[in-house]
Amino acid sequence: MKIQIINGPNLNLLGVREPSVYGDTSFESYLLSLKKIFPQCEITYFQSNVEGELINKIHETGFSYDGIILNAGAYTHTSIALHDAIKAVTTPVVEVHISNVYTREPFRHKSLVAAACKGVIAGFGLDSYRLAMEAII
Ligand code: DQA
Repeated sequence: MKIQIINGPNLNLLGVREPSVYGDTSFESYLLSLKKIFPQCEITYFQSNVEGELINKIHETGFSYDGIILNAGAYTHTSIALHDAIKAVTTPVVEVHISNVYTREPFRHKSLVAAACKGVIAGFGLDSYRLAMEAII
């Protein structure tokens, strides 16, 4: 199976960014362990702080991959364009969040992308990505 992980803005700083919320592990090192857990899957990773680049990656992989795991970061709460991109492709997209957004500020309680996604996983730390892998498989 081919699975694309897409991380949005500020997630390049995982490990150093607000460790009390997001933990102290970089995504690059977590990805190594994820690949070991799912040796049968081809997992590719893309991160960008630019909304249009996230959309381009959804278009690029969204007709040929078996699943997309998307942590759109703060664009989750603002982006109709990402919602439309997810709707436009055929690959199922799973929305993930490291933190439990529903225990945080009210502006994080609304996702504009969730309704276009197959499902949502939030609040399990980096393990949210493993759970999304299991869901896709
Ligand atoms: C996040 C939650 C978002 O509200 C926030 O803007 C992020 C990370 C999470 O993974 O918990 O950047 O998507």
